[in-house]
Amino acid sequence: QNVRVLGVPMDLGADRRGVDMGPSAIRYGGLADRLDDLGFDCIDGGDIAVPRPEAGDPDANDLPDGRTKFLPETREVCADLSAAVAATRADGEFPLVLGGDHSIAMGTVDGATDPDEELGIVWFDAHGDFNTPQTTPSGNIHGMSLAGILGKGRFGETPWARAPGVSEENVVLVGLRSLDEGERKLLTESDVTAFTMSDIDTRGASTVVQEALAIATDGTDAIHVSLDLDWLDPTEAPGVGTPVRGGVSYREAHIAMEHVADNSASLRSMEVVEVNPILDEHNRTAELACELVSSAFGERIL
Ligand code: ARG
Ligand code: MN
Ligand code: MN
Ligand code: MN
Repeated sequence: QNVRVLGVPMDLGADRRGVDMGPSAIRYGGLADRLDDLGFDCIDGGDIAVPRPEAGDPDANDLPDGRTKFLPETREVCADLSAAVAATRADGEFPLVLGGDHSIAMGTVDGATDPDEELGIVWFDAHGDFNTPQTTPSGNIHGMSLAGILGKGRFGETPWARAPGVSEENVVLVGLRSLDEGERKLLTESDVTAFTMSDIDTRGASTVVQEALAIATDGTDAIHVSLDLDWLDPTEAPGVGTPVRGGVSYREAHIAMEHVADNSASLRSMEVVEVNPILDEHNRTAELACELVSSAFGERIL
């Protein structure tokens, strides 16, 4: 199958500049060659246009009961990304999206699914990204994108975001170790399954990830895999905007992606987000991202 790479140099959803260079860093890390070696035809679909933060006022759209930095700009980028992902699928190619901050997931998922379908999601992340415009402590949309996909929270009178075809019971978070007060409450009241780092410590990454994939594939037409590089421990992946100690190891991340590959028949789309080469050690995090994508696409030593 052909894999079409879509870069999204997006940093409007995060505080620290530099994630906008993620797509370049991952390409430079050798992504296309690795996928070609695995027998895929890797086509580069270029980058989605993203406005510069200097061109807008982040807080221009804040309401008394809702904060969302750069909401109109983010919606526009996500709409363009959604169209590019949908076009990729229509051409029979596999969409592989390179971020950019995690706000882009709202666009990827929107383009990956259809209203008459059920899409499962496995979200590998240190964070829940389950804040809403009402609960966010930062105003940063990358911390709200999963809640947005599920239509949680509002902006004025209307929902502020929603992707079609995604139900809470088909969404699984893996690797949680950082939650804000408000998002913790929302998450525990939801039907989303959340596996924390404690679950991985006690039951093992392999078991937990297989269970996550079983939940996301059960009763759905396909699954989307969203890989936030801050899921890994910062010693392995230092080049991320919001590192949190105590993440998964290099080996745990690989076995997880090998289990993703075991489910390749269900895999509809994948995205790799939050790589920040400015904060990195010699592009190590982007290179790791390329290795993990390779494992998810079936790379094995024997
Ligand atoms: N929970 C924090 C916030 O809402 C951090 C979110 C980090 N998200 C991410 N995709 N790296 O701002
Ligand atoms: Mn995230
Ligand atoms: Mn659609
Ligand atoms: Mn994160």
